[in-house]
Amino acid sequence: MTGTQMRPAERNLGSGDTHPQAPILEVKNLVLNYEVKEGMVSAVEDVSFALPKGRSLGLVGESGCGKTSVALTLMRLTANNARVLGGEVILDGVNLLELDKEQMRLRRWADISMVFQGAMNSWNPVYTVGVQIREAMDIHWDPKPSASEARAKTEELFNLVGIDPEMIDRYPHEFSGGMKQRAVIAMALSCDPKVIIADEPTTALDVIVQEQILEELKKIQRDLGMSIVYISHDIAVIAEITDLMGVMYAGKLVEFGPTADIFARPRHPYTWLILSSTPSITGPRRQLAPLEGEPPNLLDPPTGCRFHPRCPFVIEICRTDEPTLTEIEPGHTIACWNYTQVPVTLSRGDE
Ligand SMILES: Nc1ncnc2c1ncn2[C@@H]1O[C@H](COP(=O)(O)OP(=O)(O)OP(=O)(O)O)[C@@H](O)[C@H]1O
Ligand code: SF4
Ligand SMILES: [Mg+2]
Repeated sequence: MTGTQMRPAERNLGSGDTHPQAPILEVKNLVLNYEVKEGMVSAVEDVSFALPKGRSLGLVGESGCGKTSVALTLMRLTANNARVLGGEVILDGVNLLELDKEQMRLRRWADISMVFQGAMNSWNPVYTVGVQIREAMDIHWDPKPSASEARAKTEELFNLVGIDPEMIDRYPHEFSGGMKQRAVIAMALSCDPKVIIADEPTTALDVIVQEQILEELKKIQRDLGMSIVYISHDIAVIAEITDLMGVMYAGKLVEFGPTADIFARPRHPYTWLILSSTPSITGPRRQLAPLEGEPPNLLDPPTGCRFHPRCPFVIEICRTDEPTLTEIEPGHTIACWNYTQVPVTLSRGDE
């Protein structure tokens, strides 16, 4: 298979769709460090992107590139040693980073919710799943739902995520891993959020269950017109379920644009390399194949372009000057000094 054949699903936004709806979520110039005893870990550096209403946006990149840090900042749930040094997170016109704790507590789950990495293990074994979902509704619905309203909503959500509503009164240990994860998704939807963030929601599940859950998520996104941020190592998943994608490397967003366009022609060297090393987006699910070299230590990131020590297209300026995000096509941006040298086709040959 050649690079130009590697196309995500047809439904994805193509380059023709250059005037999407107004964004429901805008992240502007976000900078986040973690304070550790050795210094500051530069986990998110000047990241900006916009998610139009009703669309799905994928964040992809190697482990440790800052995907979860971005997601937790959107939820205002970062670790105690996290320092947001700049930027804005605008959800439906409101900058979440300017809200006080109480204002944010009211919006979290109600306006923006998240399925965490490994969330299926976070159910409290002592209570039924239905009770735990009801609890979330009690806190965030205004007014609180009546018992029958809460039950009707939970039944609706269980049907939506593919769980038999009979399971509402069962305990977490009576659910399989896949069912527990579906119930987490139901809980994340229980307050009708404007945006949902799914951080590796299918990792740790077997492949068939992963496929089923992805199908459900796609259906939910389509049927409810959900706006979703989807985080994954798995480039095939991003191809399958997102309209837009952002590629992160060492805390920086290096490429952003319509998923279909990026798969058809990756323009940033890092994106080009990861797509070149991905056997097939239609084949079995895979993690990103490891690239040569190591990601940098974010306590002391490289000067200039953070990718320069590993980049096959490096030129002198890359070592000293940081490339800024440049729009190369409408809605498609990259941060690279030398992108014109990136080949049109991927580096691997036919399989
Ligand atoms: N509380 C913390 N204190 C110090 N460093 C942290 C903390 N949390 C994350 N980091 C560091 O910040 C960087 C970004 O981490 P993050 O978890 O956001 O990456 P990720 O892209 O989600 O990785 P993965 O794909 O493995 O989930 C990494 O270098 C990580 O070690
Ligand atoms: S700016 Fe230079 S080092 Fe960075 S990705 Fe582009 S060519 Fe490679
Ligand atoms: Mg993560």
